[in-house]
Amino acid sequence: MAIAPHIKEAMSGSSFIRKMFEDGIQLKKKFGEENVFDFSLGNPDLEPPEGVITAIKEEAAADVKGSHGYMPNPGYPETRAAIAKKISIEQNKQISGDNIVMSVGAAGALNSVFKAILSPGDEVIVPAPFFVEYRSYAANHGGKLIPVPTNDDFSLNINEIKKALSQKTAAVLINSPNNPTGKVYSDDDIIMLSDTLTAHGEACGRKPYLIADEPYRAIIYNDLHIAPVFQYYDDAIIVSSFAKDFSLPGERLGYIAVNPASSSAADVIAACGYATRVLGYVNAPAFFQRVIARCWDAKADYSSYVNRRNSLTAVLNKAGIPYAEPEGAFYLFCKVPERTVTEGEMTAGAFCDHLKKYNILGVPGAGFGKEGWFRLAYCVSEKTIVKSEAAFCKARKEW
Ligand SMILES: Cc1ncc(COP(=O)(O)O)c(C=O)c1O
Repeated sequence: MAIAPHIKEAMSGSSFIRKMFEDGIQLKKKFGEENVFDFSLGNPDLEPPEGVITAIKEEAAADVKGSHGYMPNPGYPETRAAIAKKISIEQNKQISGDNIVMSVGAAGALNSVFKAILSPGDEVIVPAPFFVEYRSYAANHGGKLIPVPTNDDFSLNINEIKKALSQKTAAVLINSPNNPTGKVYSDDDIIMLSDTLTAHGEACGRKPYLIADEPYRAIIYNDLHIAPVFQYYDDAIIVSSFAKDFSLPGERLGYIAVNPASSSAADVIAACGYATRVLGYVNAPAFFQRVIARCWDAKADYSSYVNRRNSLTAVLNKAGIPYAEPEGAFYLFCKVPERTVTEGEMTAGAFCDHLKKYNILGVPGAGFGKEGWFRLAYCVSEKTIVKSEAAFCKARKEW
């Protein structure tokens, strides 16, 4: 018996971040943990905030009978109401729990939304670079991801989006702060995008959804803010999770919020609940839904990400490796430097292989839809970053 050929092909093309992570484990075994500079995985290393730990303990101690059973597919009403409060604050617009579906992480949320809105052959436009898994998530539901270039500073290029829009466009998917660039899209850009989508909908009779994937919303620098998409576009859907802001990626709790101003809001919510069921998730994890209902507004301190961003950019400045200054999240998107010593490929794959010889692990940009660049995730210890300086300098010098 064999696995399906298209799955075999998809596996070999999309599992390079995991491969880097596994290479890192091998290198650490060989050279010792402290001598490997593993910037491959966006696995937050902060502990969850105090308020979350307290809520976990309180919920475990509550010992309420019958609290481990199934609940309605969209989630507990009290958790949906809590998330609605959170979204109401973020969007400065009143949202009710009826507009929320709890999900298995932001990944589960995206899969439920795509299952709900995509017909075979439909397209999802995404500004590149983008989170690697989007391609698979769209394909899972018969859709096709259509990457479009961004501007040199990774801001939205509305003209490129305009050119890609067609009768087949079901949605435009944005992610701010962005993985892998850390770019935050401005309100003006979101307003321009909304106007473009509205005009396209009027001209062709099919108005695309605007899906905002926001798991890094809270991790933001320089007093910036994330544009409230519900204020600017009726047919907007937010997907998010507590994986990154509360450092809970393994607990798999996320949500979908549909703008009540959308004429299809009730249908989309019902379809996302149905999708959650038939995709086999059935419902978001029960225990963590109840935990989050208690602590959704817990305060977290992200100052160490800012410090680590500053430390890593100082290291790269010293080594002479160019990068885009991130405005949020915990990724640094870096440009493959010019070769000065050896001749050969200028691809990020070649440069990441070169870095590996100095025990530095980064992820090539091709999978994110941007060749010539690579990603470093700086949710690693300050000590690792500081100690990586000599390795980066040597690697750069010998490239
Ligand atoms: C942009 C983006 N969206 C979605 C996800 C998936 O998040 P979750 O772990 O909540 O499913 C990730 C995870 O890294 C991500 O970076």
